[in-house]
Amino acid sequence: MKLNNVFEQIRQSSTVAIADRLLALSENGRKIIPLHIGDPDFKTPPAVLEVAIKAMEAGLTHYGPSRGDPELREAAAARLNSNNNCSSEIKPYDPETEILVTHGGVHAYYLALQSILNPGDDILIPDPSWPTHVNMVKLLRGRVVSVPAAADDNFIPPLEAWKEALTPKTRALVINYPANPTGVYPSREYLQKLQEFAGEHNLWVVSDEVYKNLYYSEKPISAGAFPGVKDRTLLVNSLSKTYAMTGWRVGYLAAPKRVIENALKAGQNSITCVAPFIQKAAAFALSDEGVKTAAAEMRAVYTRRREIVMQATRGEGETSVRVVAPQGAFYFFLDFRAINMTSLEICEQILEQSGVGLVPGSAFGEQGEGFVRMSITASDENVEKGIREILEWAKRQVGG
Ligand SMILES: Cc1ncc(COP(=O)(O)O)c(C=O)c1O
Repeated sequence: MKLNNVFEQIRQSSTVAIADRLLALSENGRKIIPLHIGDPDFKTPPAVLEVAIKAMEAGLTHYGPSRGDPELREAAAARLNSNNNCSSEIKPYDPETEILVTHGGVHAYYLALQSILNPGDDILIPDPSWPTHVNMVKLLRGRVVSVPAAADDNFIPPLEAWKEALTPKTRALVINYPANPTGVYPSREYLQKLQEFAGEHNLWVVSDEVYKNLYYSEKPISAGAFPGVKDRTLLVNSLSKTYAMTGWRVGYLAAPKRVIENALKAGQNSITCVAPFIQKAAAFALSDEGVKTAAAEMRAVYTRRREIVMQATRGEGETSVRVVAPQGAFYFFLDFRAINMTSLEICEQILEQSGVGLVPGSAFGEQGEGFVRMSITASDENVEKGIREILEWAKRQVGG
């Protein structure tokens, strides 16, 4: 019997190979420093748990509105409007028609693409990118056109590269800033020009902003924060990373009404709705001052860990790794191009010899080869131990 042949186009990720090896090593009693995971090591703020428990006790354990709890949609719209509304020319998001509650950011992205994509459409995606951005297009029978975002360009495609990648069938472009795996984000001027490019060529802009609240200096700008772009911009958002709520599976899509109408049909026919008690807790998380403070504290810890890594690399002398501090998210993209090994080999060797779990840059695209992603979603102690082990390993490779 035949299977869906689209899956033949989707590679098993090399992160799976690393994860399998990690599991085997820890089953054999080996202590692993886990710097491969993109999941906050903090507990969800307890007040959020309390709201969910109370909601369950109050009977919110049945189907809920498929578009999402109005309270949550309002909180989401308020959040976007306060972030994006830097000028009176920007129309605020209408929680009734322009917000859909989803099963986390990944589902918001899925519904966004399902709503706009037809088989055979071309979608422009920077390389490197989070692998799901590419895989989802393939699952929906679109074609990915990679836009090189080389290290020499700070992992942000030059505007020329977008133009060169354009085809007659291009329907949309996908961006994700601050980016997984590189942590970079562009200037306001760049985003404005990219939006102008999208406008000139009638393209949808799908902007995955799940790391938008995790930044270390200037606040990143949303792709929706420009006058006149709302009718073509789809914003993917999630509570996962900001509030240490990855397991709750809750996020939202903000998009023009006609996109949301399609996404709603896709959601109704796949998940029905997000669990109502989770939606109550999410509405609380988005609007409560105490939770806002807790999120700011988590960000302060990531900032401290980022500094721990930078401190450890100072005065190390010659090693085969170059460490650049990320602008946002919670990843370092370590540059190992000075040595003659693939990023997968590097990760395997560091895991075997130094016991540190990392993700090969090649998992994120061709431009990621030679780089390794290191998360700082582990304790300060593990982050410090991990980077020291990596630097020691890198020193041993000099000249090798
Ligand atoms: C860029 C990006 N978008 C979306 C997600 C998924 O977010 P969620 O847990 O809300 O589905 C991730 C998770 O790693 C991510 O890195």
